[in-house]
Amino acid sequence: MIDKNRVLIFDTTLRDGEQSPGATMTHDEKLEIADLLDEMGVDIIEAGFPIASEGDFEAVSDIAKRAKFSTICGLARARLPDIDRCWEAVQHAQSPRIHTFIGTSPLHRAIPNLTMDEMADVIHETVSHARNLCDNVQWSPMDATRTEHDYLCRVVEIAIKAGATTINIPDTVGYTAPVESADLIRMLLERVPGADEIIFATHCHNDLGMATANALAAVDAGARQIECTINGLGERAGNTALEEVVMAMKVRQDIMPYQTHIDTTKIMNISRRVAQVSGFPVQFNKAIVGKNAFLHESGIHQDGVLKNVETFEIMKPADIGLNEANIAMGKHSGRAALRAKLKDLGYELGDNQLKDVFVRFKALADRKKEIYDEDLIALMTDSAANT
Ligand code: KIV
Ligand code: ZN
Repeated sequence: MIDKNRVLIFDTTLRDGEQSPGATMTHDEKLEIADLLDEMGVDIIEAGFPIASEGDFEAVSDIAKRAKFSTICGLARARLPDIDRCWEAVQHAQSPRIHTFIGTSPLHRAIPNLTMDEMADVIHETVSHARNLCDNVQWSPMDATRTEHDYLCRVVEIAIKAGATTINIPDTVGYTAPVESADLIRMLLERVPGADEIIFATHCHNDLGMATANALAAVDAGARQIECTINGLGERAGNTALEEVVMAMKVRQDIMPYQTHIDTTKIMNISRRVAQVSGFPVQFNKAIVGKNAFLHESGIHQDGVLKNVETFEIMKPADIGLNEANIAMGKHSGRAALRAKLKDLGYELGDNQLKDVFVRFKALADRKKEIYDEDLIALMTDSAANT
């Protein structure tokens, strides 16, 4: 029975994320990230592509052996040896899943040079084979968003009849827009027999910067699994960012009343670890996990936040496990922020002293991009020496 209020979080940082050129992780790093994903409550971890290399196989089987909460999934092309190898790796998990896929759009069908009928037979054969090995089978029509609707309905029906328990609808090249993403899921739910008995997943890429919006639009239309990565890591412009969809649903329960298992207070830590081990730094203004995501520098914002934090903050930094100050001192900061900051550092200033320090603070901020606590302490030490 599908719980319509639950959205499953499927993390593919270790598979699609690791496919970003240059993001390769070592075996130990993969195990560490898998442990963090498991601890934060990710429902399904796509741990790798077992036939791709000996290293991937080892990583998927070791992750399968240690996961406590998450289902462990491996990727396999629509080939029997791929599926067998995938099963060999994931079978150790307390909850294993095989994920098999084939490109169904005209451009992708041309690569193996299969007719529509021939591809339909391959799908039937490979999904049935996977299902004979494992009760939990996910099937993806790669480039689904550029596949003819009639053909997409036909192959999704075949995969469901062959035993797929999750059907993932990938926007492989990040081409779709939110309205289309929702329409596609709605169309499949309406037209495909048996569609209401399986879970539809959404897998979006960010080539046009719409991955998060597309994933949430698909959920609105009935998808109940979001495929995503930490920090949006992934090929080209990346995948849907886990932290964005999870926090969007948490903050906007009024319009997205869905629950996930994610412990959001673990987001910041895993974001930092993924950035370190992948070598992909997070942009400063990245939603949720960017260095500036909770920082206020302008005087008006700082003043507002000091009086009532909700004036300029829609979520609490602590909700993502961030316990650092949210005030950045700089040339746009006002007197109230300076007074509050100095108080934190142990300096209680009268109005006249504040006036004097504020003038010197502004002069410093004009010369220096970032003002650290040490700069303010030096300012106060100077001030004491000159009085
Ligand atoms: O983007 C994509 O189509 C994929 C599939 C393998 C699911 O990553
Ligand atoms: Zn992908």
